[in-house]
Parts: sequence; C-alpha cells; structure tokens
Amino acid sequence: MRMEKLRATGRFLRYSPKVSVFDRRLSSNSGKSIHSSASGYGNGFGKKCRDDVIRKWNGRACFGLYGYQGKNFRDCMERGVLDDTRRIQHRGFGSLAEKVQRNASFSTLNSDDISHFKGILGEKNVVEDEERLTIANTDWMHKYRGSSKLLLQPRSTEEVSQILKYCNSRNLAVVPQGGNTGLVGGSVPVFDEVVVNMSLMNNVISFDKVSGILVCEAGCILENLITFLDNQGFIMPLDLGAKGSCQIGGNVSTNAGGLRLVRYGSLHGTVLGLEVVLANGDVLDMLGTLRKDNTGYDLKHLFIGSEGSLGIVTKVSILTPPKLFSVNVAFLACQDYFSCQKLLVEAKRKLGEILSAFEFLDSHALDLVLNHLDGVRNPLPPTIHNFYVLIETTGSDETCDREKLEAFLVHAMEGGLISDGAIAQDINQASAFWYIREGVPEALMKAGAVYKYDLSLPVEKMYDLVDEMRTRLGDSANVVGYGHLGDGNLHLNVSTPQYDDKTLAQIEPFVYEWTSAHRGSISAEHGLGLMKANKIFYSKPTATVNLMASIKKMLDPKGILNPYKVLPHSIDSHS
Ligand code: FAD
Ligand code: MLT
Ligand code: ZN
Repeated sequence: MRMEKLRATGRFLRYSPKVSVFDRRLSSNSGKSIHSSASGYGNGFGKKCRDDVIRKWNGRACFGLYGYQGKNFRDCMERGVLDDTRRIQHRGFGSLAEKVQRNASFSTLNSDDISHFKGILGEKNVVEDEERLTIANTDWMHKYRGSSKLLLQPRSTEEVSQILKYCNSRNLAVVPQGGNTGLVGGSVPVFDEVVVNMSLMNNVISFDKVSGILVCEAGCILENLITFLDNQGFIMPLDLGAKGSCQIGGNVSTNAGGLRLVRYGSLHGTVLGLEVVLANGDVLDMLGTLRKDNTGYDLKHLFIGSEGSLGIVTKVSILTPPKLFSVNVAFLACQDYFSCQKLLVEAKRKLGEILSAFEFLDSHALDLVLNHLDGVRNPLPPTIHNFYVLIETTGSDETCDREKLEAFLVHAMEGGLISDGAIAQDINQASAFWYIREGVPEALMKAGAVYKYDLSLPVEKMYDLVDEMRTRLGDSANVVGYGHLGDGNLHLNVSTPQYDDKTLAQIEPFVYEWTSAHRGSISAEHGLGLMKANKIFYSKPTATVNLMASIKKMLDPKGILNPYKVLPHSIDSHS
C-alpha cells in the first residue's frame, strides 16, 4: 500500500555524491560538481525496494546553490533599524525590557587610553570610526545596541594580554567579540565597554593529519576552517547557519551546538585545549593536543560556554573527524509531531552510526522560508505538511549507506511515519534542503519582530510548548517551531509585526516557567548573554549560580569582562 504511494509520488530519489555535501555548501567557487553515478539512481532502493519505486527528480531538478553564509553585518546595517535610544533592546521591547544600570566603578575612556592602545596595537587596529563602531555595537538581530567608542583588533595573544592588563588596571570594561552572530545580546556592549574583536587572529597554527587535531587562533571563521579541513580530507565537528561569519573562539565561548551535534557531540568533547587570556592579562596555556589527560581539574571546560565572562579565548585545539564521502540528505514530511519523534527513535536505531543530522521544522517555519527567502521552492509540493524532518547520513560505504537509508525510509513510509519525502539527487538539491532549514532564522528576521527562545526539553514534550504558546497568543502572532530534534533542542520563535509589551508579557515568564517545570534548559545552545542573565535560576539552583559567581570573582575580580551578561545582576556585584 505504502509502496504504491511511493510509486505514485515518485519522489524518493537516489543521491550518489562524488564529493561530500560539505564541499559545495561551503565553498561555492570550488568548481566541483556532482553527478549521479550511472548506477546512482533508478537501480533499486535496496532489497526491500523495487526498481520502479525509485524515480528521478521528475524534472524538478535543483533549487540551485544558495551557499548561505550567515549574516553579513554591513547588510544588516543597510536595513537601517538603528536609532539613538540607549534602550538595551532597542527594537522596542517596551517597558518590560531589561533595564541595567551602568556600573559606576568602570572608568570612561580618555585620550591617554587611546594613545596607550595605539602604542600596543598601532594606529590601524585602534578603531574609532563611527560606521565601524555602529556595526560592532549592534547585534545580529538588531535588538541590542551599545554605545562603545572604541574597537580594538589585536593580532596576537601578547597584544590581547596587554590590552586586558591595561583595562584591568584602569577599570575599563571589555566585550570580547567574535563574528557577532550571537543571539542573546552577549557579543555587543551594553554601554561604553571597549570591544575587543578577534578577527585578525585568524591563522591556522597546525594540523596533524594522523590524529586530525587542528590548532588555530580564535578569530578563524568557522567556514574557513571547514574549507581548510576539506582540503586535508577532514571536517569540523561543528556546523551552523552562521558559519560564514562566526569564529571558532565565539563558538567555543558559546559552546555552540549546531547541526551535527547529534553525530559529533558537543565542544566539551571535541575541544582538546585552549589558550585563554584572563582579565588581568595573564595567559593560561591549556592548549593541549591530547585525547587523554587526567592531570587535575580540566580547566578549559570553564571557558567553553562562558560567553567571554571569564577570559578571552585566543587559541583553540580541536579534534576533527575524517571526511567521509558517502553523504545523503533526505527532506521528509510528517503528519504530526508524534511521527517526527518516532522517526527519530527509528533513525537512531536503524541508521545508527551513519546518522549525521536530524533537524525539524514545522509548516510555519517552512512557510516563512518560502515567503521571505529568494528562490526557495517547496521540495514536496503541492501540499504543505504539518512537519518536516531533514535527515543527513554520512558514512564510508556508498552502497551500504544508501541501502540502509532507503530501507529505513521505506520502512518509515510503510509504518506511516512519513507522508512524503525526497532524497537529494545531487549536491545542489542537498544544499537546497539544508538552505531551507538553515534559512529559518533569516526568514524570521525578514518577517518582522521575533521573540527567540532556545530550549532543551524532553523530546516527547517539546512541541506541546509550541502548541500551548499558539493557543495563548491566538491570531496576534505567528508561533514557529524548529530546531535540532536529534538533540532535544527546540527553537521556539514568536514572530509579530513589531515588538510590544503585551506580547512579551504573554510569552514571558510563561515560557521559562514551562521549561523549568519540565526540567528543561532555558538555553540549549545560544547562551544567556544579556537576554537571559536574570533568568538563570529557571535552569540552575542558587548554590550552583553562587559558585559560578565566586569563580567569576576569582578570575575577574573587577568584573571588567563582559559585564551585565551571563550572571544575574542581583548577585553580580559589579552590575
Ligand atoms: P559572537 O557573537 O561574537 O560572541 C558570542 C559570545 O561569545 C559573546 O558573549 C562574546 O563576548 C563571546 N566571545 C566571542 N569570541 C570570544 C573569544 N575569542 N573569547 C571569549 N569570548 C568570546 N548557535 C548555535 O549554537 N547553533 C546554531 O545552529 C546556530 N545557528 C545560528 C544561525 C544563525 C543564522 C545565526 C545568526 C546564529 C546562530 N547561532 C547558532 C548563534 C551564534 O552563531 C553562535 O553562538 C556562535 O557560536 C557565535 O560565534 P561568534 O563568533 O559570532 O561570537
Ligand atoms: C538554528 O538552529 O537555526 C540557530 O540556532 C538559530 C536560531 O535559533 O534561530
Ligand atoms: Zn540552533
């Protein structure tokens, strides 16, 4: 019966890559192209599947290669939503916006300070230019805007050390900044903090082809590292939609999760070592390249996910997996959320070691992408289904992997878990499928105001929150659910024409209370930043937060590093 349906839709297709998906998604000028091998499709879906079940792409061919590269900030600025208000959430969170008082113990910048920094960094890397400062002061979402008058661009650990030593002695507050793609207001100043931007520390230091261990400076852009490794036959264990702008130092400092955590685990597992400059300028050399090292406390973990509040990460050592050439991407439709869940359980069981991504989006998310991003087409027309799942497999045996995936899909189809679907036939289609998923944040930005929540929740309960939020808000908002289902990470986004107090009051604290009641986390992967510094107690007990504050006090007694972020203002004595 189900097989008939497959035959009728003719959408299950073979994708037989000659190069990995990583090649083309990330280096659009690579010149590599992909062809289905002669035996690549139409030759069977594995034992369970008949030849005639499989069809080519039905002339739908490809959506083109979009090569989404994260958000370029100049572009953001051109959309011009900045104003002169000193509100923190300046796009208008209204009176419910977090209000923070500038810490009076911080000094204000004077001309001697500027001269001193020029002495350390040279004229060029001490930036006072208004346009560049506006960019550095504004976050990706245009929600948070500081008023820093100074952007510093160190080129070495020694320069970072000298900057911090001086700032500490002068009580000048500092914001470490990577690619400024953070989504919680952590990467931009709140007031006049000095921005220390890591972009010029962008060298690969070493790569060991035997162990796969990469050592690089913190300002390396993730996409550049992916390209570098690709040429060596390896991949980064981390991938995310902001790859074109975000930096490895920022990734480590946020403990970014991303699209392949389900396969390669978190940065707490793959980062082997760090070099960090503390608030007083001391350099902590923890830049080990060992898989195993049990000599005392593993202090690097303190800095992974500390959002620039404990030190500036200057170098990173990371374990990278070999690049495997057999990559398949399937875009599937599910009738209900329960089917998505069951599909995940089945995928883990049946695809096992080749599963490299399990992402989901609801119909509202797809609809936004179709309406707001250029050139995107619905991969499974004409219907809009309730849920979509993107599954990627990565393995080393084309035939075996393909058979495994096909058998899994046929079984899922027969079991009613999937109502429609397509396997990318070539790299362009794979890119197009990924672009739909990775494009959701950008589409939301284009749709208007967005209230963004990044939650860890038990998978079986996750979508209940989206449904409840929809009921709460009625027609006044578009409630959108998507995220890293394989990791139990929901991105709940509420999209409205503009921000207003009433909507915010309906969302918060409800969303945090709901998450806490289900023993979830109010920050799965984006961090706390300014947005959620005061919400930490929803996910962490007081004793834990107090210990965090003690650690902060010990490492940064004057509180100059990324003030007003991460820790609640009530116990962060510097705020
Ligand atoms: P920034 O935004 O510059 O900074 C983030 C935080 O880290 C700040 O608190 C900053 O002070 C600190 N910091 C930066 N560099 C350093 C350093 N060298 N030393 C010390 N502190 C530092 N996040 C995910 O986890 N998963 C995703 O899938 C994901 N997808 C995204 C998609 C889009 C389109 C966008 C815009 C964002 C996405 N993010 C995602 C959020 C963001 O990209 C990540 O948090 C990323 O790791 C931030 O890196 P960055 O270099 O831009 O850091
Ligand atoms: C994603 O998974 O797309 C990112 O974390 C960004 C977002 O949550 O919007
Ligand atoms: Zn995410």
